[in-house]
Amino acid sequence: MKGKFISFEGPDGSGKTSVIKVVENYYKERGFKTLVTREPGGIKISEKIREVIHDVEHTEMDPRTEALLYAASRSQHLNQKIIPALESGIIVLCDRYVDSSLAYQGFGRKLGYDEVLAINMFAIDSVFPNLTIFVDVRPEVGLNRVFSTADREKNRLDLESLEFHKEVYNGYLELIKIYPKRIKRINGEQPISKVAKEAIDLIETII
Ligand code: TYD
Repeated sequence: MKGKFISFEGPDGSGKTSVIKVVENYYKERGFKTLVTREPGGIKISEKIREVIHDVEHTEMDPRTEALLYAASRSQHLNQKIIPALESGIIVLCDRYVDSSLAYQGFGRKLGYDEVLAINMFAIDSVFPNLTIFVDVRPEVGLNRVFSTADREKNRLDLESLEFHKEVYNGYLELIKIYPKRIKRINGEQPISKVAKEAIDLIETII
């Protein structure tokens, strides 16, 4: 495919959404065509699936159901939005992708890396990003940011314990070891301009 597929990952409150905005502006100003997206990405089918997952009333949701729903939503978003953009040569900046499922469901929910990878390989048909940027913020710092921002919407995952978020964080560190070429870590506890600069330096190596 002609375009480049870049995903951003990190714990809740890592600031990746703000980093993506700065990166997008940087490339737009230089005349690149970019697409910023996040699952469910405005895709109607995926939006509906996400509502089911994130509903704070769905406390009885089974972890496997949760993992399958994220994978289903991802598949639709990938096929309806990401792949067409990549085929037309666009730089796709995606806020969370398959590594979120590996970290949150595989490690956080303890469903297992292999198990969650297996259902996701089916969902994504082996389409991995060209580059994944892990915005590294310690889970306690991230959660603090989430809960000190009053107008930020809190979902079912945000409301999980610090223990859960630590498992997710350690999961991400495992993923960096498993995919050292694809996943690159940047320090998210620096000022946003520095974090964005590090992200751009990494992206420059692949475009
Ligand atoms: P969102 O509101 O997009 O938060 P953020 O700005 O932190 O990305 O909510 C995404 C939540 O869903 C977040 O807590 C991580 C979780 N999640 C998973 O558990 N598995 C997944 O596959 C994805 C994509 C997200």
